[in-house]
Amino acid sequence: MKVLTGNSNKNLSQKISKYLKTKLVHSSIKKFADGEIYIEINENIRGNSIFLIQSVSSPANDNLMELLLCIDALKRSSAKNITAVIPYFGYARQDRKVAPRTSISAKLVSNLITKAGADRVVTVDLHAGQIQGFFDIPVDNLFATPIFARHIKKKLKKNNLICVAPDVGGVERTRALARKLDIGISIIDKRRPAPGKSQVMNVIGNVKNKTCIIVDDIIDSGGTIVNAAQALVDRGASEVHVYITHGVLSGSAVEKIKRSKIKNMVVTDTIDNSYKVKKTKNIEILSISNLLGEAIKRISNSTSVSDLFK
Ligand code: R5P
Repeated sequence: MKVLTGNSNKNLSQKISKYLKTKLVHSSIKKFADGEIYIEINENIRGNSIFLIQSVSSPANDNLMELLLCIDALKRSSAKNITAVIPYFGYARQDRKVAPRTSISAKLVSNLITKAGADRVVTVDLHAGQIQGFFDIPVDNLFATPIFARHIKKKLKKNNLICVAPDVGGVERTRALARKLDIGISIIDKRRPAPGKSQVMNVIGNVKNKTCIIVDDIIDSGGTIVNAAQALVDRGASEVHVYITHGVLSGSAVEKIKRSKIKNMVVTDTIDNSYKVKKTKNIEILSISNLLGEAIKRISNSTSVSDLFK
């Protein structure tokens, strides 16, 4: 088994390879003057099972193309099998036609990954679980919930805790975390009056004097989370803590979080944000490397991955 990294998140790949006690495959990924990507694998990988780590994060199109070209290079180098480890699966939010004459990007990206030659996909907190069905190869969708639950148990007092779903789409994820912590849930009724804008209509459940834990898969512009935190405080919440798997953090999201009612926001490193959140007191990065490393180990040894979440 060998591990290869793309350029999207080399810090995470280094940590995973350290967990697996292996060196990353020696490769070069360069760009021609016109922006085209050129990939060369600089060691023999014939007959090896390869785990290729690459998030489809910003710049999403470059990182996606790099992922596809790496898979192609591995296939043409006679790898025994190729597992695309995609910690952040970009383009997942368009998983159905939301209006007439729109594309379903999640399906197209799934087709591209399969067509390029991947034999298996490993990812974390897919925006919608049903995207697994867009593939005809095995997909292991890992969850950050156990990592979040451990962190919460260590950092927050159990009495008066409540888990909050920032929108109806996040209820299943919120319930999973609440179950692990043995606490109740509240649900925010969020509307999107225009793309990129979010508005809290109602908060379902009593949050007065409670320490609220908002859990979501993605923070992008920060609008959803900042508005949710404000709505909870307006309804008497004593503190708001946030747990997010994928820190897209576009535009002024970090500034918004800094100025918000959020006491602490934990975000995993499926996307490399170390440079963006440096010196931001209420944002903490929690690494997902051991979970991914352990999943890779188990896939390689043909043992259970789902046991990781029991
Ligand atoms: C939506 O369904 C997602 O789970 C996130 O809530 C959303 O992508 C967050 O976007 P933003 O931070 O721009 O409000």
